[in-house]
Amino acid sequence: MPFSLLRSRPEARRTATLVGGALLPEGEARRVYLGGQLILVAHVEGRFYAISALCTHWPELIDPASLHGCEVRCPVHWATFDVRTGKATGGPTRKGVAVFPVRVVGEDLLIEFPE
Ligand code: FES
Repeated sequence: MPFSLLRSRPEARRTATLVGGALLPEGEARRVYLGGQLILVAHVEGRFYAISALCTHWPELIDPASLHGCEVRCPVHWATFDVRTGKATGGPTRKGVAVFPVRVVGEDLLIEFPE
């Protein structure tokens, strides 16, 4: 069998641009609708991160104004998530949120989503 038939396909991804996203000040986060979903974009430790804005306990929205260090909090039962990794760091859920790769291009952020 030829090798070409055995090659695995790379995971399909699509990119969406958050215009002006790189202007978000250090230590702040915003919730935006991009790529067909609600995401939370944060600027911490000199880098930009994007995670799903939906809490994994119940489908409630994580509060971007709660950003403290690298953590954001769901206002309903106070689950906390690390914006760098998406991991749940406290509260009633152990399930993390999705993390989306971010690239800075000038003043914009290019955020990758799975197909
Ligand atoms: S709904 Fe988010 S912690 Fe319960």
